[in-house]
Amino acid sequence: MNDLMIEATDVGKAFGAHKALDGVSVAVPKGTVLGLLGHNGAGKTTLVNVLTTMLPPDAGTAKVAGFDVVRQAHQVRSRIGLTGQFASVDEGLSGLDNLVLIARLLGASTKEARKRATELLELFDLTDAAKRPSRTYSGGMRRRLDLAASLVGHPEVIFLDEPTTGLDPASRLGLWEIVERLVTDGTTVLLTTQYLDEADRLADRITVLAQGKVVAAGTSAELKAQVGQRTVTVTLADVSDVPKAQEALERAGMQPVPALNTLTAPVTSSRELAVVVRALDEVGLEATELALGEPTLDDVYLTLAAHAA
Ligand SMILES: Nc1ncnc2c1ncn2[C@@H]1O[C@H](COP(=O)(O)OP(=O)(O)OP(=O)(O)O)[C@@H](O)[C@H]1O
Ligand SMILES: [Mg+2]
Repeated sequence: MNDLMIEATDVGKAFGAHKALDGVSVAVPKGTVLGLLGHNGAGKTTLVNVLTTMLPPDAGTAKVAGFDVVRQAHQVRSRIGLTGQFASVDEGLSGLDNLVLIARLLGASTKEARKRATELLELFDLTDAAKRPSRTYSGGMRRRLDLAASLVGHPEVIFLDEPTTGLDPASRLGLWEIVERLVTDGTTVLLTTQYLDEADRLADRITVLAQGKVVAAGTSAELKAQVGQRTVTVTLADVSDVPKAQEALERAGMQPVPALNTLTAPVTSSRELAVVVRALDEVGLEATELALGEPTLDDVYLTLAAHAA
């Protein structure tokens, strides 16, 4: 017995001739968050659909909470929560009625169902809107209701497919905090996202998918170290000095990229700052600012996406 709550091994899924998933493996320990990153069409939702038993894989195996998603689909379903890319609450019903209905479907008594619904509305800051039809909710309120709906049955594992797409910054932050709280309580989360800051903030480990294949996996720091480059950015007082500074840095063996009144070049160590200062000094220029940049997850993503294309 290990503590992996999600374990996919060489999962494949084709739609006709198109391989949406081509030998994908992921392993998510209990109480952690896996961030699944990838461009449109990378296969994120397809993997979520396989793991949530909605789509049978054509190759490989997958287990959730220790149960096989094909042979033990029923056991899997009773242990997971799913918040899809496309909202699934009934728009005609109020937030309260939606949650009560789900709790009843999961076997709770009317009283228990109301209690659970009230509790979740409170947690998601929807108490004031509890009795309004959910069609009158804002986008952020709907996302919260959708997430609340997926939590009714106290799932051990939750799948969040692009949970914050289209939300304003405050609503995103609110959702992140809820996810963090769930994880602290031991819930395991698989989250798909196109936002690197979201993966950086929430995910313990990140898997990058491109065209149905895993192109990178590791912690955010590992991924950054793997492909990210440190850079130095030189800011010049005068835009017209940029070409001259660029030539000077190129003579010093660097590869500066100009943008407005700055030049950015990859460096291997902070000692290269001295090279920059000397090179500029030789042509009578001085930087108003010299900044050393650490690689971001964006660099990682762009590099990997470029490699995969
Ligand atoms: N039911 C289907 N029938 C045919 N092709 C499909 C089906 N579902 C997905 N695909 C294709 O499989 C590929 C992966 O789709 P998927 O929805 O998993 O991508 P995604 O990473 O979730 O993208 P997005 O970021 O746009 O949500 C795409 O090329 C898509 O067109
Ligand atoms: Mg998707």
